[in-house]
Amino acid sequence: ENKTTIVVMGSGSVGKSALTIQFLQNHFLTSYDPTIEECYRRQIIVDQKSVYLNIIDTAGQEEFSSMRQINFIKGEGFLFVYSIIDYSSFHEIPDFITQLQRSKDGDEYGMVIVGNKNDLENERMVKVADGEKLAQDHNCTFIETSAKTRANVEEAFFNCIKEVQKN
Ligand code: GTP
Ligand code: MG
Repeated sequence: ENKTTIVVMGSGSVGKSALTIQFLQNHFLTSYDPTIEECYRRQIIVDQKSVYLNIIDTAGQEEFSSMRQINFIKGEGFLFVYSIIDYSSFHEIPDFITQLQRSKDGDEYGMVIVGNKNDLENERMVKVADGEKLAQDHNCTFIETSAKTRANVEEAFFNCIKEVQKN
């Protein structure tokens, strides 16, 4: 049985829940309700093989960050999400990655860096090149998405699943 656990991480309000809901349920979450933790299960087909996908949508708000460590251990693939209109959310990504590396201690995992809200081009604070550079530094895939328009939402999750399947 082919099971994959994907963890969606990043600062508060960057769009982790909106991306997850857009991917799984095909609609855009317009309201902001800070997540404590949500888990979703879904059977999908990747490269003609059935995969039992477990998606953990985590809390970005610092007050709920106590579950982070266990999710680093549980996760096999990680979507590290920032918002292109929020520089601080971008700045925080390396800390998440450092914590993940410490937790994995040499174990294999897949990882994708996601710059979300790219429908808000005129409010952009993080350049595409900045995201690309960060991904290069960590030897992983980079993608910009919009949970609102659904642009690259499937690609983000599928890239992450494929990174895991490589291991
Ligand atoms: P926490 O659960 O607190 O960590 O936040 P989150 O990362 O899950 O953010 P959430 O998905 O709840 O989105 C926060 C707000 O941003 C909501 O009002 C969403 O509608 C909005 N939002 C999320 N993604 C996008 C996007 O791609 N484009 C636009 N324009 N708004 C977005
Ligand atoms: Mg959320």
